[in-house]
Amino acid sequence: MNILVTGGAGYIGSHTCVALLEAGHTVIVADNLINSKAETLERVMQITGKDIIFYQIDVTQAAAVETLFAKHSLDGVIHFAGLKAVGESVDKPLAYYYNNIVSTMVLAQACQKYNVPRFVFSSSATVYGENKVPFVETMKLLPTTNPYGETKAISERILTDVVNANPQWSVALLRYFNPVGAHESGLIGEAPTGIPNNLMPYIAQVAKGKLDKLRIFGNDYPTVDGTGVRDYIHVMDLAEGHVVALARMSAGVSIYNLGTGQGTSVLELVESFVAANGIEIPYEIVARRPGDIAKCYADVTKAKKELNWSTTRNIMDMCRDAWGFEKNYKD
Ligand code: NAD
Ligand code: WQD
Repeated sequence: MNILVTGGAGYIGSHTCVALLEAGHTVIVADNLINSKAETLERVMQITGKDIIFYQIDVTQAAAVETLFAKHSLDGVIHFAGLKAVGESVDKPLAYYYNNIVSTMVLAQACQKYNVPRFVFSSSATVYGENKVPFVETMKLLPTTNPYGETKAISERILTDVVNANPQWSVALLRYFNPVGAHESGLIGEAPTGIPNNLMPYIAQVAKGKLDKLRIFGNDYPTVDGTGVRDYIHVMDLAEGHVVALARMSAGVSIYNLGTGQGTSVLELVESFVAANGIEIPYEIVARRPGDIAKCYADVTKAKKELNWSTTRNIMDMCRDAWGFEKNYKD
């Protein structure tokens, strides 16, 4: 199939390009490189030995998007492009609402106009808010504590309404849990600018000596050891989930949790990183981070049953591959 991957130069997008190319698809990437580098796409081509067609465009710009749709006969769109820093979204709500929602609308409109049958959307476990774990697709979404989360809930709603009006269209809303790790080659991975907000890249930079120690946000949560519990998923498992969803999606809206179904605490992740890589990670316990919840993990029954998809990589693989990328990465 001819697949447009928006945000394809980014962290999850680039790994999904690898999985798509390896499955035999033709990949067209649209990315404005606001949070990524074109070099990542060269590395994807190096890993796969296959070409990518690249447009450096902003997907909120309808004219540029339409030019692309007119040129390529697309079979599907995977829409990763978006701003994703939760804290930044509190300071810059308009940038987040504009970028994340307008991009979804512009792409949905282009799909309608050019009869592109499949649309896969990057949603997030954050839409479950303070529901009880494990999170199930049928749960009523609860308000999130930040504009970023709201952009995901609103985009889901917009796409659902468009399908209600056009029931022949196929939309998959994929709710990712905590993607971590990197491609096994170490050539592509997660390279946040500045000090990482997320746990795994922070640990990897402590391992490298770039940061002095990890600060663990709270050890008084009602969890196995008091630290926050999350459902970490290897980014290549997540990438492969997209390829499967594209192949199996049918008319209407389908919602899938993409996670492992297993919760891991912050301390357990640190211990696994030390065991996988033989590098000590100094840490201190500090106050809870505002907005954090105690536990977040998926019920993955639906993806297993309907997509016949489940993860194959474990926490040790995630820690090994995160370090495999970070140790060679040059800013
Ligand atoms: P990323 O920042 O690495 O990738 C996003 C890409 O989109 C970047 O390459 C960026 O340059 C591009 N982009 C942003 N706005 C654009 C625009 N208007 N036009 C064209 N390109 C644009 O982020 P990621 O971690 O790969 O996340 C991909 C998607 O998955 C995002 O929508 C994110 O919200 C969602 N998501 C991420 C996580 C996570 O923890 N990483 C979890 C759940 C959902
Ligand atoms: C994981 C755990 C922290 C950093 C975020 C977004 C979510 C989704 C995925 C996009 C928590 C603890 C972290 C640190 C720490 N993104 N931690 N010290 O918050 O679960 O999810 O990324 O959709 O929307 O909110 O991920 O990696 O930031 O935190 O102790 O320096 O690690 O408190 O328990 P989170 P995270």
